[in-house]
Amino acid sequence: MSNIVLSLHRVTKTFGGKGDVPLVEIFKGMDFNVKRNEVVGLFSPSGSGKTTFLQIAGLLDSKFSGDVYIHGSKVDTKNDFQTSIIRRKNIGFVFQFHHLIQEFSALENIIFPLLFEGISKGIAVRKGQHLLEKVGLGKRMDNRPAELSGGEQQRVAICRAIINEPALLLADEPTGNLDQSTTSKVMSFLIELIKEHNISAIIASHNPTISQLVDKNVKIVDGRIVCN
Ligand SMILES: Nc1ncnc2c1ncn2[C@@H]1O[C@H](COP(=O)(O)OP(=O)(O)OP(=O)(O)O)[C@@H](O)[C@H]1O
Ligand SMILES: [Mg+2]
Repeated sequence: MSNIVLSLHRVTKTFGGKGDVPLVEIFKGMDFNVKRNEVVGLFSPSGSGKTTFLQIAGLLDSKFSGDVYIHGSKVDTKNDFQTSIIRRKNIGFVFQFHHLIQEFSALENIIFPLLFEGISKGIAVRKGQHLLEKVGLGKRMDNRPAELSGGEQQRVAICRAIINEPALLLADEPTGNLDQSTTSKVMSFLIELIKEHNISAIIASHNPTISQLVDKNVKIVDGRIVCN
């Protein structure tokens, strides 16, 4: 299997350009690779295109020109059905706001992706319990999101993103709404789980402390991704 998990080739992305709306060129023939087990930190100013980049890399946006390869195979991003299967099999997401299901307990929230894949409930529950214990939430499994702190909720969201061991984890400001000390704790859990499960990751953030925890730091400059 290819050593490159994600590859973007000559990606160009624009917004606007119709009527009076000015054309904004976010990416101009951008190339980028993520290797197996590589954790990349993406640090760029607000508005530079981090979320746009993660949406393209995560196969959530098909309105761009250029190609995305997952494990060396070109994704037909215009085919929604196939793209959604590739996304589900390979990619996990953590967002700034966790998007947990309020009616579900912490455990139910994280085993949901496994049940969706047809894994038996017994196995899913054991795996979920193990993960929640790892991130220090062993005693909070039956609590609903509203009964957990912001940092605890984000730890649940991280467990949910990695429970089916995606090849690639994409995190968009995963600690954006947490204080500094909670950020450090949540980030160390995130990196620990990524490393333990041999997952590749891109973590977009404004937080400089995260840059010390990743393998490589990159930023967006003039529509391209460059190493720091
Ligand atoms: N749907 C859209 N229509 C028009 N412009 C957009 C759209 N989405 C994003 N943009 C513009 O594209 C640029 C990049 O946005 P993006 O959200 O990717 O930035 P970001 O680096 O994630 O910023 P932040 O750090 O604030 O989250 C911004 O100038 C934004 O205004
Ligand atoms: Mg953003």
